[in-house]
Amino acid sequence: MYRNRTCGELRLANVDETVLLAGWVQRIRRMGGMTFIDLRDRYGITQLAFNQETDAALWEQANELGREYVIQVEGTVKERSSKNKNIPTGEIEIIVSCLHILNASETPPFTIEDETDGGDDLRMKYRYLDLRRNVVRKNLELRNQVAFETRSFLNERNFLEVETPVLINSTPEGARDFIVSSRMNPGQFYALPQSPQTFKQLLMVSGFDRYFQIVKCFRDEDLRADRQPEFTQIDCEMAFVSQEDILEVFEALTKYLFKKIKGLDIADFPRMSYADAMKYYGNDKPDTRFEMKFVELKDLTEGKEFVVFDSSEYVGAICAEGCAAYTRKQLDELTNFVKRPQIGAKGLVYVKCETDGTFKSSVDKFYSQDDLRKWAERCQAKPGDLLLLLSGEKEKTQKQLSELRLEMGSRLGLRDKDVYSYLWVVDFPLLEKDEELGRFFAKHHPFTSPKQEDIPLIDTAPEKVRANAYDMVINGVEVGGGSIRIYDNQLQQTMFRLLGFTPEKAQEQFGFLMDAFKYGAPPHGGIAFGLDRLVSLFAGLDSIRDCIAFPKNNSGRDMMIDAPSFIDQEQLDELGIQVCLKEDKAKK
Ligand code: AMO
Repeated sequence: MYRNRTCGELRLANVDETVLLAGWVQRIRRMGGMTFIDLRDRYGITQLAFNQETDAALWEQANELGREYVIQVEGTVKERSSKNKNIPTGEIEIIVSCLHILNASETPPFTIEDETDGGDDLRMKYRYLDLRRNVVRKNLELRNQVAFETRSFLNERNFLEVETPVLINSTPEGARDFIVSSRMNPGQFYALPQSPQTFKQLLMVSGFDRYFQIVKCFRDEDLRADRQPEFTQIDCEMAFVSQEDILEVFEALTKYLFKKIKGLDIADFPRMSYADAMKYYGNDKPDTRFEMKFVELKDLTEGKEFVVFDSSEYVGAICAEGCAAYTRKQLDELTNFVKRPQIGAKGLVYVKCETDGTFKSSVDKFYSQDDLRKWAERCQAKPGDLLLLLSGEKEKTQKQLSELRLEMGSRLGLRDKDVYSYLWVVDFPLLEKDEELGRFFAKHHPFTSPKQEDIPLIDTAPEKVRANAYDMVINGVEVGGGSIRIYDNQLQQTMFRLLGFTPEKAQEQFGFLMDAFKYGAPPHGGIAFGLDRLVSLFAGLDSIRDCIAFPKNNSGRDMMIDAPSFIDQEQLDELGIQVCLKEDKAKK
């Protein structure tokens, strides 16, 4: 037997018991004739004590240990004279009678402590050591709990977990596919699923009526803090349901998770239309932890010879409460912030609503005190507040103003990770036009159904058609999204036509689905949550990476196993693949 107790469980009640523990040496403190070792396992830390006077050989053996050695000890639990109130086992220690080194360890490249000295790259390279750290391990424990509670909730409600294939054809979710070769079918490729979308719809045709799967999805897209190339969805689908039914079930799941994981009773989810989300927040995933809604000022700014505003399609403002005293330096910082290439504004106009009732602005030359008062009134600004204005082409400017709003929210401490603000964003447009390519794309995916009342607009004003699509947004993060699907073959074909598919191309890519719909497809719809994002929110993490055991870095690399990598010529030959990189072509 290696152990009969863990390092997290012994208390005063266990005093005088003889125990066997095994774990890693976290720290060694040599204090004259006494040596203390913090022994760590997954469950906690227990102090081991070695006394030179009572057993010199054992004491010497302990002094030879190094950090991260794996040891086994036998000893007696004793009350400590100087107690550590910070850890649950802090009132006891083990007086060791026998010590076995199970394995030695090289000195780890960074300290295995909550506050480590290891940088990001180093910790990713030695992720298995990083995972020994409490903070990282706790995130994985939380992830396990979220997955477990989700399964338990859905099981209770008759959802069936069904696995769908990983080697499939391309799924049209908008990102690029990862491609996998097929030795047995030279020149042909599988794609890894961006989601199990079409399969879950087929399961509805098969009569499974309530499906879910906690499933890996793969998308070759640019990475950010909330995006990984492989991530996990809680993917769900239901038959014989309306949008209302889906929102009800998955709002209930979310409330259940908040209660189980955070101990919080959360209220019903408010709903916001996509149009309002864009109008007031410039963002389809608004962070509603704070107000600072957009106010349109175009009509009030016109005709005063300020060409910048006059020539703009849109002039929008936000009101930053209590910021009228911002210094030149702070205002310059904000201006530089919006001018960064990632944001792309040309400049920033401010109006300080001074406490004496006057206004001071960067456009004083063009606008009178009276003009500025009207702006302030519309923004419901009080003396002491600061208005920040951006102008330009409508959609672009709203996006820029959204970034500025979030920045101000952060600066003013309004984005507390322990405060949760959640909502459904509904009534998304069905289509999105790519101006450069001059064609429509599905805003969600091509299987999303238009709103019944908007179907007549499909041919005349497709951009105005709204979809039965919804996103769940928590603290400005899109944690889930879904839709009611088209189940009528005719309508599905119309949709493919709108998206620029020829009937042949549609048949080639989605023939299997359209064929299936000929055999009695029930009305159905669903949703998928991003498990990584949900866990990150519960854990208050800045990046979803921290709740993934072995994540990729921002270049999509696994630093530990050094993937992706080149493969042997022999393997390529067997697959009939010739690699010709752009640089090679250029050389030729
Ligand atoms: P969607 O594309 O909106 O919908 O994805 C669903 C949810 O998955 C999460 N997510 C991601 N998480 C981490 N990294 C990524 N790269 C990433 N991409 C998406 C988000 C998102 O809300 N098949 C549809 C769902 C449906 O219609 O039922 C789908 O995949 O939290």
